[in-house]
Amino acid sequence: MNDHERDDDANRLTRRHYVAGAGAAVAVGLAGCSDDPEGDIGATETEGDSGGGSGGDTEDGSGGDAEEGDLEIVHWWTAGGEQDAYQALLDGFREEYPDVEIVDNPAPGGAGSAIDAVIQNRVLDGDPPSTFQIWPGQALTPYTDEDLLEDIGDSVWTDEMEEAYLGDIVDLARPAGNLVAVPINIHRLNNLFYNVEVVESANVDPTDINDPQQLADALQTVADETDATPLAHQTQSPWSSLQLWESIFIGMQGVDAYRTFIDGDVSSLETEVRNALELLNTYSEFFPEDAGSISWDQGNSALIEGDAAFIHQGDWAAGQYRAADGFEFGEGWDMVAFPGTTSVYQSVIDSFVFPTNNPSPEATEKFLSYAGSVDAQARFNPVKGSIPPRTDVPTDDFGPFLSRQIEDFNNSNTQPPSIAHGTSVAPSVHSSLEEAFANFNGNGDVDEAYQAIANSF
Ligand code: GAL
Repeated sequence: MNDHERDDDANRLTRRHYVAGAGAAVAVGLAGCSDDPEGDIGATETEGDSGGGSGGDTEDGSGGDAEEGDLEIVHWWTAGGEQDAYQALLDGFREEYPDVEIVDNPAPGGAGSAIDAVIQNRVLDGDPPSTFQIWPGQALTPYTDEDLLEDIGDSVWTDEMEEAYLGDIVDLARPAGNLVAVPINIHRLNNLFYNVEVVESANVDPTDINDPQQLADALQTVADETDATPLAHQTQSPWSSLQLWESIFIGMQGVDAYRTFIDGDVSSLETEVRNALELLNTYSEFFPEDAGSISWDQGNSALIEGDAAFIHQGDWAAGQYRAADGFEFGEGWDMVAFPGTTSVYQSVIDSFVFPTNNPSPEATEKFLSYAGSVDAQARFNPVKGSIPPRTDVPTDDFGPFLSRQIEDFNNSNTQPPSIAHGTSVAPSVHSSLEEAFANFNGNGDVDEAYQAIANSF
């Protein structure tokens, strides 16, 4: 299915509401917005995903004409294979609750780069959608601090559901004690995906790359031996560089140092932080020429086409390979854990919440209960490229790649949450780190970046 077909499909399936504009830039801070003096609920960056630009009406998660009782969902899954995964989720929901009218209201932009600005205003204005996509953990805290999310501990989280979930993931859904979110997936972040034919033609064996420095050597070999882009990285929006820096840092220093970092003790790690920045600078020599104007899935498309060798991305990238015709795991593409991080399963989790002042309490409760079900997670995850947070989802149909990820998850020593994907640091720290990496993408200045990182906490 190509992008246009996918857009058409989305229009048909989701009725009238669709977002305009790849790159419809929103930059809203909360300065002056009374309920959030620290400006915590916020983001300033947006990146248009290639999949989200061409359908139907011109809205951007801002509400539109949802009627009372309709289930309005705001999310950012319009890119790569993500739209297919989201549709698979809605298909299952419709089968179970055919009476609920769904109003789909995406805010496209990788890693939620456009969603916060929309959601924060609507939630603070008392005009929230029925539910919205958000990372569990720290990303929820500005909302829980202001009591803007319903406690769904009794209504949605049955005992059966709670017992079926991985305990650590349940904890992320209750950052302030009460259960306020329903996690639906677990992505792995520390992946290095590659085009098999391209790396073979460069005589590079990714399973032999043992640390982040050796990856720089492999990228150089690809540059010397082929016409392909060595690393299909995007710098249009800062999150991909921040997440790559996280993986480099863990690959060089290990998870204990990473945990010290996310706890805010940056100064004891000055050399380590700088070394990872230096290496990121080296990698940047191997980014695409148009890195500053592409989205993550456009970078990934280049890998699919054989125009790029490697990409560092969460395994949502694998959802895109699944959606591509004739590009098979093991033959067309493969993946190794990011060098130096083999025993780590760095996690990225998505969830849905029940904002207060809800326009559709009944429908929202149905949707959240469904999102927490075996059926929902069995439909959504294999298409999304993630694994389920429930432990009782049959995974026979998850295919060889995700079966291997599940094995890796089960064998991993640790599953530290990501910075770039909001679970591990407060949103104010997250935005400030994103700003540091936006500047670093532009100027590669290690001193400036180190100071900005240290000042973020
Ligand atoms: C993450 C999100 C994933 C995926 C990715 C790329 O933040 O958790 O589900 O959408 O961004 O946009």
